[in-house]
Amino acid sequence: MPKNNNIIGVFDSGLGGLSVFKHFLKDLPQYNYIYLGDTARVPYGGKSREVIYQYTKEAVDFLFAQGANLIIIACNTSSAEALRKIQQEYLPKKYPGKNVLGVVRPLAEAAANNKNLKRVGVIGTKATVNSEVYPTEIKKLNAKIKVYQKSAPLLVPLVEEGWAHKPEAKNILRHYLNPLKEKNLDALILGCTHYPFLLSEAKKIMGPKCLVPDTGKIVAQSLKNYLSRHPELGLSPTKKPNHRFYTTDNPKPFKKLAERFLGQKIKQISQIEL
Ligand code: DGL
Repeated sequence: MPKNNNIIGVFDSGLGGLSVFKHFLKDLPQYNYIYLGDTARVPYGGKSREVIYQYTKEAVDFLFAQGANLIIIACNTSSAEALRKIQQEYLPKKYPGKNVLGVVRPLAEAAANNKNLKRVGVIGTKATVNSEVYPTEIKKLNAKIKVYQKSAPLLVPLVEEGWAHKPEAKNILRHYLNPLKEKNLDALILGCTHYPFLLSEAKKIMGPKCLVPDTGKIVAQSLKNYLSRHPELGLSPTKKPNHRFYTTDNPKPFKKLAERFLGQKIKQISQIEL
């Protein structure tokens, strides 16, 4: 692994963050990455703000200790409940010169900047929905947009189990989306790393008039833009990029699902303790 901190850390509570990481590999394939999935403690979505902050901070410490200069918190729940405090209080004291970014801001910006959107739905974990982070961020940028939210907690364990394409998952998704469908939405934000695994099904349920973007794509574009504006982080493409994976529970089931989802072999994966 490079010694010069030319590494981007990617964090999620589990394997859902691969829905974001997949787009990093597609749009920014020449960078060095370390992906950390806190599989021993997933899901974060029903936990308290204090616990989510503590877990996220531990993940940040680990990824910086591995040499990352920038961390993308792919997890919506951590982005909603821990990111601000980490950026404002923890980083300046402990890691000046490094940065941590989340997924909420780029998704809120994409919604707010799209002039065609007046009614936007958001599904996420209980913590994300209760934090009101999406309505707050979207309305800061465009006060005219109406935002409707719904938590969809059962989808996370289904995806973690590799059940995304089973009829049970589709039925549960339909159950969560039906009340939002009644709101005549122009767009639906999949505000949880795990939901893009059900993207095509969500599109079908919401119908052709409702935009359901692949959130990872938006986050990858935003990262690309950020990297071009921040050369001081020392992150640059390399000829032989290195990708490492870490999990906090047995890496075997993660590896199997991740290889299937990313469509490539994972060579370096290990279990760690946070
Ligand atoms: N990664 C979380 C998110 O994006 C979903 C899984 C969890 O609850 O930990 O909100």
